[in-house]
Amino acid sequence: MAQEVIKIRGGQKLKGKVEISGAKNSSVAIIPAALMAESPVTLDGLPEISDVETLVSLLEDLNIKAALKDRTLSIDTTDIKNAPLPNNKVESLRASYYMMGAMLGRFNKCVIGLPGGCPLGPRPIDQHIKGFKALGAKIDESNPTSMKLEAERLVGANIYLDIVSVGATINIMLAATRAEGQTIIENAAKEPEVVDVANFLNSMGAKISGAGTSSIKITGVSSLSGSRHSIIPDRIEAGTYMCIAAASGEEMVIDNIIPEHVEPLTVKLKELGVKIETGDDYMVVKAAAPYKSVDIKTLVYPGFATDLQQPITPLLFLADGPSFVTETIYPERFKHVPELQNMKAAITADQGTATIKPSQLVGADVYASDLRAGACLIIAGLIAEGVTTIYNVRHIYRGYSNIVGTLKELGADIWIEQQA
Ligand code: EPU
Repeated sequence: MAQEVIKIRGGQKLKGKVEISGAKNSSVAIIPAALMAESPVTLDGLPEISDVETLVSLLEDLNIKAALKDRTLSIDTTDIKNAPLPNNKVESLRASYYMMGAMLGRFNKCVIGLPGGCPLGPRPIDQHIKGFKALGAKIDESNPTSMKLEAERLVGANIYLDIVSVGATINIMLAATRAEGQTIIENAAKEPEVVDVANFLNSMGAKISGAGTSSIKITGVSSLSGSRHSIIPDRIEAGTYMCIAAASGEEMVIDNIIPEHVEPLTVKLKELGVKIETGDDYMVVKAAAPYKSVDIKTLVYPGFATDLQQPITPLLFLADGPSFVTETIYPERFKHVPELQNMKAAITADQGTATIKPSQLVGADVYASDLRAGACLIIAGLIAEGVTTIYNVRHIYRGYSNIVGTLKELGADIWIEQQA
């Protein structure tokens, strides 16, 4: 079977404007959340990515009418049915776990395949399960490929998360929205996507306060109605284009961003020596290599995002000395390292820290093991000598709208090929 690959001939200087899409990690929670509405919902500004298409198709499996056109999704749940969601589509993305919280909220019951997503090492969902159980759900995990969640009634509870988890915070918030009484989530994730989901639920009639802090209070309501909501800009897509501009941008305008959401990256890029001008909802980024070496440690928001650890790495080859990148969220998120070594990069990873030394990258055949590793390899390809071929690009399409077309418009020598 033919497979699609991305090819890049490095060395071009990029110039122009990029419009950032709605946030993937908000969209993938807000689409499931919409199934709890008893009247029509409209979502604007969705990213054109395969994860969104998969979730829309999961809604259709529940007999929901869903029409996606020009980044706007109209959802009508009038004829909704509580059907089991088996493995195939569910396991193609991690965020399908949000169907659990939303279906539990709507029906008090669901049967759903196990979530998949990027292979970043162990990614348990024990904190989600702990939250659902605290709300009164019984979980049957006896089937190796699916889970059954069922509650006679959902009742609010105080839930302390042992680990700060974006997914568990949102999933518990979804189910608790329809529980009787009050739920408090302590040690909650503070990511902007959590706030976006809470704002959407509140626009449907939920009573949630404290989203964006470590303590979220949810007072359950007996029904939710439809609303219209615009997804916040994707801070990780924005951050990726900031790294692209810093790697090879003569001058790039990155439009439709919330500068505060990318602040931890902006600060690091400025430490490297990248030239950045910040406007209300845009940034102008210019490459200024050679850079100063920097050290990076990923942390939960508002720390340096784990999702930008791989995309920033190629910039560190353009620095004047060794840099260290320490990953604290997913200590095994270093599958880009052997690929970069194939490109003659001086990089090693050991016990959750990568050591990166100045190097001239050379084009090679490389494999995108996960979404952000794919973004990293694209940036590496842009600064490498010669042609880089990236395999397994489906991961990249899960999270970046038309990245090849956008880079081509900016002046990159990049194209898609079908290989036998
Ligand atoms: N964790 C547990 N138990 C749980 C849940 C999480 O041990 O029940 C651990 C995870 O293994 C990880 C840490 O807690 O070590 C944080 O995981 P979190 O739950 O916050 O991650 P997630 O919700 O599964 C989301 C994003 C990821 C992003 C992380 C961290 C979505 C769909 N995914 O994942 O995004 O890396 O938060 O910010 O929102 C990406 O976009 O490329 C991506 C992987």
